[in-house]
Amino acid sequence: MLWIHPILQLAALLIAIRVLLMGINRFRFQHLRQKCAFDWKGHVKYGKIAAWLWMVGLVLGVYVAQQTWGTTALTGAHYDVGMLMWPFILVGLVTGYILQKPSGRRPGLALFHGTANAVAFVLALYQTWTGVEAVRLLLL
Ligand code: HEM
Ligand code: HEM
Repeated sequence: MLWIHPILQLAALLIAIRVLLMGINRFRFQHLRQKCAFDWKGHVKYGKIAAWLWMVGLVLGVYVAQQTWGTTALTGAHYDVGMLMWPFILVGLVTGYILQKPSGRRPGLALFHGTANAVAFVLALYQTWTGVEAVRLLLL
């Protein structure tokens, strides 16, 4: 049970790398006027998978910690940054669902979406760093 969360979050991160690279291409096209291809449908599909995995994984992390040790926040910074992450994931998801149907240019909303997700991505990198430490201390 303890392994479900780390495995899900690592899978989400790997998918998110690809989704972010696609999004950066869209950013370059939209804001920097550079010629770039953007796989709209692919970004939406894999973006949803990555963001929902992050959300489900986060809830599972807390749930499993509670079930196993009878308490949360045992992992310190890993817990705190996890709590900081969910609003960014949520904003990325809500704006993504609004943007998913192509209907004219919405550069402001797209930038808001991209920024929220980029912050979530950087925080996920930090979570991997502290998560590996949690695996070493609590699981192995
Ligand atoms: C988006 C990335 C992640 C988020 C938002 C996240 C969030 C959380 C949260 C909120 C907890 C509960 C901690 C507590 O109550 O003290 C937790 C537990 C834990 N996390 Fe993460 N985490 C992420 C990624 C990772 C990764 C990549 C690993 C390992 C490589 C990892 C390893 C662990 C471990 C071992 C626990 C203890 C409970 C369990 O195994 O389910 N986490 N995480
Ligand atoms: C890890 C998750 C995600 C990341 C890192 C990400 C990142 C980005 C970035 C950087 C952009 C470019 C923003 C700009 O041009 O200013 C973008 C655009 C876009 N994203 Fe995402 N995104 C993610 C998830 C999603 C999801 C879940 C959806 C849909 C439900 C979505 C739909 C879109 C759409 C439709 C655009 C193009 C918007 C436009 O140009 O009008 N994204 N994304």
